[in-house]
Amino acid sequence: MNRIIGTSASPAQVASSLGRLSGRVAVVTGAAQGLGRAYADRLLAAGALVALWDVADGQLRETSAALTEKYGADRVVSAVTDVFDEDSVRSSVDRVVGRWSQVTVLVNNAGGGLFPAGPSEKMTVEQFSRVLAVNVTGAWLCSREVLPHMRAEGYGKIINVTSTMVTSGLPTGLVAYTTAKAGIVGLTRAMARESAAKAFVSTPSHPAMSRCASPAPCRPRCARRSKSR
Ligand SMILES: NC(=O)c1ccc[n+]([C@@H]2O[C@H](COP(=O)([O-])OP(=O)(O)OC[C@H]3O[C@@H](n4cnc5c(N)ncnc54)[C@H](O)[C@@H]3O)[C@@H](O)[C@H]2O)c1
Repeated sequence: MNRIIGTSASPAQVASSLGRLSGRVAVVTGAAQGLGRAYADRLLAAGALVALWDVADGQLRETSAALTEKYGADRVVSAVTDVFDEDSVRSSVDRVVGRWSQVTVLVNNAGGGLFPAGPSEKMTVEQFSRVLAVNVTGAWLCSREVLPHMRAEGYGKIINVTSTMVTSGLPTGLVAYTTAKAGIVGLTRAMARESAAKAFVSTPSHPAMSRCASPAPCRPRCARRSKSR
């Protein structure tokens, strides 16, 4: 029987919920900064080998250098990867498997609001679609590409990062983002049923408190907090 596990969890709680990680190979998307970097750091601290994926080349290099210095060059790889680009994801999976022969953990973290917060009536179709594309299609695509490797290994965990905004719809001005994050909940449950796996939805526990590189004051309390630091 499948079990659906919904949770509000910090990166540390997510890493510790995964059990024995020593020698396991994890991919973290959107790992160049923010929560993605925190997930990568926690997985490394728990013994995993970690591949960092992100589109932000410069920031990715910086994060990769910092984590390599902390955990060693044999434990960290990075690849500029666009989670919505099929060729990019495939080639990054090939690189991870080429290096470590497996992928057993995937954290679908890339995404976020991506555009300035504001009334959805003012959004273009392109802007709305882009938020869905990166958050939902990206998570599905990365999962699709790693699942065969997990099956071959007889082990796999996929963590999909959503948001508490799915239940509250607040704060306002983030209709595309909230819609995308609700999509991730459905994606998680449906893919878990399909693959006869447990579903684990990671909802960062204090959204308004996490620092991020969001281009807009989509989380006003977060923006105020960052300014005051
Ligand atoms: N920060 C919060 O308070 C909070 C709360 C709830 C949920 N979340 C979710 O947690 C995740 C991380 O949030 P964050 O605040 O650290 O965001 P962030 O903006 O700091 O980092 C997101 C990362 O994703 C990368 N990214 C964007 N598009 C990409 C693409 N197409 N391919 C690969 N990488 C891409 C960005 O370059 C960036 O490094 C997001 O999914 C977000 O929705 C965050």
